Order: sequence, then C-alpha cells, then structure tokens
Amino acid sequence: MLIKPGPNGVDIPFASEITPRDVFESRRTFIRQLAVGSIAGGALAQMAAREAFAQSAVTKLAAKSNPAYVVMEKTTSYKDATSYNNFYEFGTDKADPAQYAGTLKTRPWTVAIEGEVKKPVTLDIDTLLKLAPLEERVYRLRCVEGWSMVIPWIGYSLAELIRKVEPNGNAKYVEFISLADKAQMPGLRNPVLEWPYVEGLRMDEANHPLAMLALGMYGEVLPNQNGAPVRIVLPWKYGFKSAKSIVKIRFTRDQPKTAWNISAPQEYGFYSNVNPLVDHPRWSQATERRIGEDGFLTRKRKTLMFNGYNEVASLYTGMDLKKFF
Ligand code: MTE
Repeated sequence: MLIKPGPNGVDIPFASEITPRDVFESRRTFIRQLAVGSIAGGALAQMAAREAFAQSAVTKLAAKSNPAYVVMEKTTSYKDATSYNNFYEFGTDKADPAQYAGTLKTRPWTVAIEGEVKKPVTLDIDTLLKLAPLEERVYRLRCVEGWSMVIPWIGYSLAELIRKVEPNGNAKYVEFISLADKAQMPGLRNPVLEWPYVEGLRMDEANHPLAMLALGMYGEVLPNQNGAPVRIVLPWKYGFKSAKSIVKIRFTRDQPKTAWNISAPQEYGFYSNVNPLVDHPRWSQATERRIGEDGFLTRKRKTLMFNGYNEVASLYTGMDLKKFF
C-alpha cells in the first residue's frame, strides 16, 4: 500500500501475505485454550487444525539463496542469534531484547523516505516486502564489542530501494532512524544514547550491493529482538551501524550525526569499518569470539579487514582509515 506518497510518489502495488504477529499470537492463545479444554466443542477441533496450519505459515518468509553472498562457515544457532542481542531500546543487557521486545508492535509499520530525493514516499511493510525479490544472504556480523555471528538474512540490496526514490544531486549521505516509542520500548527511559537511534552511510556505501535491507532471517520474518520488521545489515562495518526497527530513511547533504558518535566520538567513528589494525580506545580489535564457540579451550578468531568483505575496499581508496575510523 502506498501511504502519503510524495508529489511523485513511488507507485508500488499493495500486498499482504504475512499474518500480523498480534493476530497469530491471539490464534496461539486460542489454540492453547482449546488444548486445555477451556473452550468446549468438538467441532472446534477442525478450526483449530486450520488455524494451526495458518500459524505454521505465519512467520515463514520464502527467499532464494544468493550464492554470491554465502559465508562458508557454520551458521550461528537461531537460539544464540535471538537471545544474545544488542537493542538498547529494550535494555542494555544481552538478554533484555529477547525478554522485553515482545511489546514492539511491528504491524502496521511504515518507513518514511524523505530529504534529498525526487520521490519522497512513505512505504508500509507489505510494500517493502514486495519491492524487490527476497534473497537469503549468509553474512558475518562483527560487533564492536569483539564477538561475531554468522546469520542467514532475508532481504535485498538497499540500492533497490534507493533507486526507486531517485536521490537528487544533493544527496551525499543517508540517515537511518529507528523507532523511539516509550510506550513500546522500556529501554528509552535509560539515557544511554540520545534517542532515537540514528545511523548513517555515505551514498556510495549505501549503494554498495552488500548493504542490505533485511526483513527476515533463518527463513522467517525478523524476530522483534533482531530489529523487526525492517533493519539494515552492513557486514563490513561494526554491528552498531546496522540500525534496527527503522521508521525513517533520510537523504542528506551533510554527514548525519549518529547516536554512537554523539555519545562517544573518540570511540565510535562515522565509518566504523571493521578494522583489526585500529583498536578501540579501550580494547584490541585484532580478534573476535564467535558466539556458539565459547568452549574453554576455544581460540579466538582473527578479525579480518572489512570483516573479510574486501569488495568494499575501493570505497575507501585514498582515505586514512585510522583517521576516518
Ligand atoms: N539498532 C538499534 N535501533 N538499537 C540498538 O541498540 N544495536 C546495534 C545494532 N543495531 C542497536 C541497533 C548493535 S551494537 C549491534 S552489535 C547489532 O544491532 C546487533 O544485532 P543483532 O542483535 O541482531 O545481532
């Protein structure tokens, strides 16, 4: 559905194939009630079976694997990827997002695209799901804190979306703004960061095919704690650049002021490319701990330049990456 299109709004057909989470959660409760007998009637059994079938299809998100983007390493378990998270809007502990992000209402959801574009538009989540063919891409994600995961994301290149809104000649950067709603996000009470969470990229970075708009992972829509219903994934940058639960994408002339850079500019630069040669002021970035490989004798892995994604190196030709960290 096209909501509030700009003067030259992008014309994308409406599609709605995924059952809203709150609908299937209430179905689940209904089925549970049936099972414990609090709703009587044998005729309801058939209905329950139909509902159970609908439920199993509910969070599935079909996508074709893109062999150009597959890391030949063991995929992190779904359990680890969904229970060890950074999503400060739900608390700063790694377990907080899984525990508290259930309050996030991911439908209806819209993303406003504005600023230096010829076709500003507000797109709803169904439109984003249909904007380009969904692909599965297995990316390594390296957190600035020194751990990493390997996750099968579902989505498409951010460039697909950028192309549709036609940035004008003034667009030099793109800003990503996450939802900041105190009613849904208990972590916003904590002033750890300036809310909303904001991230940014230079236009050529945003247009690099590796930069992904993600709508799912592990064959399903994104779990809330992983940034539902839509986030970016930038595998050559530290994880904090990959903003979650995005509600606004703004094209700008000037470099955006990003949440982590505002909070600690000497620690978190605008670029934040994975770089084993540039230490964080408080710790080394030379090695990393792969989540799920935490055995007592397990050796840490060497962190690779650009997290191993050397195809982005040309974006930074001639730049001193110690200065532009
Ligand atoms: N996006 C928002 N809105 N809020 C956050 O706190 N944390 C970032 C990033 N995106 C964060 C965010 C950090 S520090 C990391 S490492 C990744 O999300 C973690 O993504 P994951 O939990 O899906 O692995």
